[in-house]
Amino acid sequence: MKIAVVNGPNMNLLGRRQPEIYGHRTLHDIELSLREEFADVEFLFFQSNSEGALVSEIQRLGYEEERLDGIVLNAAAYTHTSLAIADAVAAIPVPVVEVHLSNVFAREQLRRQSLIAPVCAGSISGFGAAVYSLAVRALKK
Ligand code: DQA
Repeated sequence: MKIAVVNGPNMNLLGRRQPEIYGHRTLHDIELSLREEFADVEFLFFQSNSEGALVSEIQRLGYEEERLDGIVLNAAAYTHTSLAIADAVAAIPVPVVEVHLSNVFAREQLRRQSLIAPVCAGSISGFGAAVYSLAVRALKK
């Protein structure tokens, strides 16, 4: 299987950024754990702080990446604001699983809304770094 893991703004600061909310593990740690846990999966990792770059990468993954089985997407703050990312997810023929490290439903009101959730295959939120592994398992089913 081939799975892409796409992370949005400020996810490059994981491990240093509000560890009481997002934990102490860096994005690199999470990527290494995924490669270790799923040795049979080919992973592609992408992170950007820019909305346009995320849209372009989702389009590229959806239409140009050969034999891609799914995308794990943590769009971070763009989850709550970006119709452009939601449209890109809706536009591609590849299933996308939305993930969030924190339980967004237990946080501020504006984080309880996801523009991306309705166009995803499913959403996983609130289990820390394990959400990435759970999403890969969901895509493997
Ligand atoms: C997040 C939750 C978002 O509300 C927030 O803007 C993030 C990270 C999470 O993984 O918990 O940057 O997507």
